[in-house]
Amino acid sequence: MSDSSNKYDVVVFGATSFAGQLVCEYYLANYGASPPTFKWAVAARSESKLTALKERLASEIDSAASTLPTIVADSLDDEAVGGMVSQAKVIITTVGPYAHYGSKVVAACSAAGVHCCDLTGESLWVKGLIDKHHEEAERTGAKIVPSCGFDSIPADLGTLMMVEYMKRTHGLSPDDVRYYFGASKGGVSGGTIASVLDIFEQVWSGGKAITSKLADPLLLTATPGFGKAADPGGLGYDSLAKSWTASSVFASHDSKIVFRSAGLLGYPETFRYKEVMGFKGLLKGFLPAVFSTIAFGIGGFLMVIPVTRKFIAKKFLPAPGEGPSKELRDSGYFWINFLASGRSGDGKDVVCRGKVGSDKGDCGYKETAKMLAECGLCLALDDLEYKKGGVLTTASAMGMPLVDRLNKAGMTFKILDE
Ligand SMILES: NC(=O)c1ccc[n+]([C@@H]2O[C@H](COP(=O)([O-])OP(=O)(O)OC[C@H]3O[C@@H](n4cnc5c(N)ncnc54)[C@H](OP(=O)(O)O)[C@@H]3O)[C@@H](O)[C@H]2O)c1
Repeated sequence: MSDSSNKYDVVVFGATSFAGQLVCEYYLANYGASPPTFKWAVAARSESKLTALKERLASEIDSAASTLPTIVADSLDDEAVGGMVSQAKVIITTVGPYAHYGSKVVAACSAAGVHCCDLTGESLWVKGLIDKHHEEAERTGAKIVPSCGFDSIPADLGTLMMVEYMKRTHGLSPDDVRYYFGASKGGVSGGTIASVLDIFEQVWSGGKAITSKLADPLLLTATPGFGKAADPGGLGYDSLAKSWTASSVFASHDSKIVFRSAGLLGYPETFRYKEVMGFKGLLKGFLPAVFSTIAFGIGGFLMVIPVTRKFIAKKFLPAPGEGPSKELRDSGYFWINFLASGRSGDGKDVVCRGKVGSDKGDCGYKETAKMLAECGLCLALDDLEYKKGGVLTTASAMGMPLVDRLNKAGMTFKILDE
């Protein structure tokens, strides 16, 4: 079981990956190599890459980085993974694609009662974790929390923020929450591309059975109910938001995570969630919404077909280990608008607005590293309301204390009706 005798509060596994390096940079720049409140270590499969990483961090950020403890572990080696997990209270892992490299880490954490968080957007892998480990993790107290980056924190915690606010101020739980992805600037890494290519490969080889699982927003929800949850939210005009809408690539996984939270946290069965790209204005928004829909359709089609998928990946997309430049990450931003609605006890319709985002960095890397790093600290250090273990979500496992942490760290989770 995880307890205070564990040597490290947080171990960053995959520290030499594109995303893992950003997590290390975030800890070092904001907390230092040996902060007074927690102990952290870096882990990866290659000792020489870990040494090179520490040298770079020491020369670019803080010379104390050379003192960071290291653990060498291959994610496919049970003994090495077990040895790493036995030293930690929380494992942060960026070793992906997770369907290939993530399962043994979760299995070891679940058995040992060690918390674990990651950056997966691989819904079918998460479904497998729930089926295999949820009950065991409940028994051992391990909080296994997938999708602790842009996939799916803004969706999951943004929804929780709206639900909590409406309960507190209007005495009701909203039965309709909508997420509109708006302005953004950023790029994509080879590691993310590898995971996305893997999902398209599964769609191609798995046929209808896989497609229908991926299309099911309730795939990860054990609780019956939420019968009217499905809202694919494609091209259309949303009169509540006064926006044209188009499908969002993030919606498929995010919706599944939000509905898992809905089940774990007891949102009412009438709860519905819709996630789309939002384009403001009856006239101004129409063409961008149409172009976005066409691009989404053609892009999806070309990525499913193996020959075009391989061609696009080779010619146009970054390789594993590569990603957006520091300039692009630092100048990046993203904004999401939320609308939540419900009916109060005296029969009045109530609509609330909220906003989630950041102007401090791009959503996929700089702010994702911040989100994952703060999840690690939240799990290791905070007194959290949800006491049980299990394969959870950020909203159920950490909830509003994580929202507070992310606001303090420079992100924005804000109710606009206050
Ligand atoms: N928004 C989001 O939620 C978000 C954002 C970014 C990334 N991600 C996800 O995060 C993951 C990492 O992305 P990335 O761009 O950082 O990928 P990356 O740079 O390609 O890194 C992958 C890492 O996995 C390590 N690895 C591979 N096989 C291993 C093994 N058997 N044992 C131990 N380590 C092994 C590699 O080690 P070496 O360094 O030794 O090669 C590498 O460091 C991907 O799954 C991606 O989809 C999600």
